[in-house]
Amino acid sequence: MRAVVQKSFGGPEVLEVVETEKPELLSGEVLVRVKASAVNPVDVAVRSGAFPLLGQPPFGVGWDISGVVEAAGPGARYEVGEEVYGMPFFPRAATGYAEYVATPSRQVARKPKSLSHVEAAALPLAALTAWQGLVDKAGVKAGDRVLIHRAAGGVGHLAVQIAKARGAYVIALASEGKHDYVKGLGADEVIDYRTTDFTEDVKDVDIVFDSVADGVRSLSVLKPGGVLVTILEHPSGELEQTVKEAGRRFAGVSVEPDYWALEQIAELVDAGKIRPTIAETLPLEDAGKAHEIVASGQTVGKVVLTVE
Ligand SMILES: NC(=O)c1ccc[n+]([C@@H]2O[C@H](COP(=O)([O-])OP(=O)(O)OC[C@H]3O[C@@H](n4cnc5c(N)ncnc54)[C@H](OP(=O)(O)O)[C@@H]3O)[C@@H](O)[C@H]2O)c1
Repeated sequence: MRAVVQKSFGGPEVLEVVETEKPELLSGEVLVRVKASAVNPVDVAVRSGAFPLLGQPPFGVGWDISGVVEAAGPGARYEVGEEVYGMPFFPRAATGYAEYVATPSRQVARKPKSLSHVEAAALPLAALTAWQGLVDKAGVKAGDRVLIHRAAGGVGHLAVQIAKARGAYVIALASEGKHDYVKGLGADEVIDYRTTDFTEDVKDVDIVFDSVADGVRSLSVLKPGGVLVTILEHPSGELEQTVKEAGRRFAGVSVEPDYWALEQIAELVDAGKIRPTIAETLPLEDAGKAHEIVASGQTVGKVVLTVE
């Protein structure tokens, strides 16, 4: 099969397409013929060596996949021919930018019926991050006031839609040129974080969803008992302590595979409540170019590789 691997840390040019063995299928696993694989900022950080999650190369990066079950091991949850999506093995290696991935079947879910593989591949890592923060940890519910940083980004644009689907009032932060887009996602208010100090205007927030490491500032807009969800600052203890001393709750997120949450996300997608935005679609061979786009930090939604 073809797969994108890297033999050293470095720029996008270290990503190369190679011929390699199809992964072996074990009990409880499915072999997925990958149709599309999304690129996340973590892929870029792993490739460059900035975040050496997978140790030393050689390895293949990429986790988000959508595809078709080509073979099913004993006890697997899906049958041959079913369409599935997920982010198997994260944070261990999955080599998602490839023609085939073998995954424990409960690390993928049935793909939303209303989405193409490109759209479905855009969801798992970003949508699960938003879900595990807002739903699992913060328990977002109808009427909650939720502040979402980086609302036009891969995670943020899904966080806005998940919060809205649960009936929350969403205050989103984005640069001015993206305000119409973010309002179109359902945000009730959009603030240009570049020109306005949101801490002066916003108050009585139940949940802050922080994807920019702005935890301490964001704390000031939270109600007593409110939750600071952070996807960037891992619980080193310091921020958590500050949040607790201020009488607020702290929730650090390190996203993990979860088929049950992906099923609920698929239901919301098929009910028309969540739709991923595709910034760009590129062939597998252009993985390096896709990394350059994501590394710009300016993407609206997701960049996805197609695997023919
Ligand atoms: N803990 C976890 O498990 C987890 C999971 C997923 C992602 N993450 C991390 O969360 C971060 C966001 O991921 P993502 O996929 O959403 O990123 P992304 O798609 O690359 O975000 C792009 C958006 O970020 C905004 N932006 C750029 N610079 C900014 C700044 N200085 N301040 C505020 N907004 C800025 C831009 O919108 P504007 O024009 O509005 O600035 C842009 O549209 C990344 O660092 C990623 O590694 C963590």
